[in-house]
Amino acid sequence: MSAHPFTIAVSGKGGTGKTTISSLLIRSFIRLGEAPVLAVDADPNANLHEALGVTVHETLGSMREEAFSRTIPPGMNRHDYVRFRFRQALIEAEGFDLVAMGRPEGSGCYCFANDLLSECMLQLERDYHFIVIDTEAGMEHISRGTIGKPDMLLIVSDPGARGLRTVARIRQIATQLGLEKEKIHVVFNQYKTGTAPVDIGDESPIAIIPEDPAVEKADLAATPVSLIPEGSPARTAVRELAVKIRAMARK
Ligand SMILES: Nc1ncnc2c1ncn2[C@@H]1O[C@H](COP(=O)(O)OP(=O)(O)OP(=O)(O)O)[C@@H](O)[C@H]1O
Ligand SMILES: [Mg+2]
Repeated sequence: MSAHPFTIAVSGKGGTGKTTISSLLIRSFIRLGEAPVLAVDADPNANLHEALGVTVHETLGSMREEAFSRTIPPGMNRHDYVRFRFRQALIEAEGFDLVAMGRPEGSGCYCFANDLLSECMLQLERDYHFIVIDTEAGMEHISRGTIGKPDMLLIVSDPGARGLRTVARIRQIATQLGLEKEKIHVVFNQYKTGTAPVDIGDESPIAIIPEDPAVEKADLAATPVSLIPEGSPARTAVRELAVKIRAMARK
C-alpha cells in the first residue's frame, strides 16, 4: 500500500444503499488488515455511525458555526481552534475513525472555514489506508470541493432503468468536475436473484450486492448493519468488492 490513503466516495440516489455499503466496506477493509480506515459521513442526516455501531456527539457543521460565532479561547487563533475542535469531533473506534460533516452552513461566506476543514482532512489522511466517504444523495460535497477528488467514485444503484438514469447523471456531473472516467464505478445493490441482467452500456458493474434478509433484519432491529453475520450474502459480496478495490489501489 502506498503512503497515500486511497479515497472512496460512495454516491447514489436516495435509499439505494450508500450507507449500508459504506459501512460494510469499512468493516471489510478492517478484516482484510487494512486498518485504520477513516469513515467520513458527508450526509447531513448522518447515520453512518449507526451502521458502524458508534455514537457521534458533534459534527463538523456545528463546529464550523461555532468557530465564527463564539469567542475563541485566549492564546488561540481561529485556525488553531478549528484544528483543535476537529480533533474533538473525530471518533476513534476499533480499526477506524469517524468524522461526521453535519449540516451545511447557513447563509454567509464560510469559505475560510471550509478551507480549514479541507486542510484538517489532509493532515488526518496520513495514517489511513482507506478513506470511505458516505455522501448524501447528489453530488454536493464533490461539487463544492469539500472532500476533494476521490480516487474512486462508487455509484450505488438498483439495477433498474430508472436507477440507471441517475447513474448516468451522477457520472456526467463527476466527469464535468474533472474526475477521470476510469475512477467511476457502478455498484448494483439489492439485486434479486432471477432478475434479468441490465444493460449498462459497454461497462460492467464493479460489484453486484444481493438483496439480503440479514440487512433488513438489522434495519428492523436497529442493530449495526455492518455487523451482520459472516456468510450473509451482502457481507460476502462487499468483501469481494473490498478485495477488488484493494488490488486497484495497489496499482
Ligand atoms: N443489500 C440489501 N439487502 C436488503 N436491504 C438493503 C440492502 N441494501 C440496503 N438495504 C435497505 O435499504 C434501505 C436504504 O439503505 P441505506 O440507508 O443504506 O441507503 P442510503 O443510500 O444510504 O439512503 P439515504 O439516501 O437515505 O442516505 C435500508 O432500509 C436498508 O436496510
Ligand atoms: Mg445513507
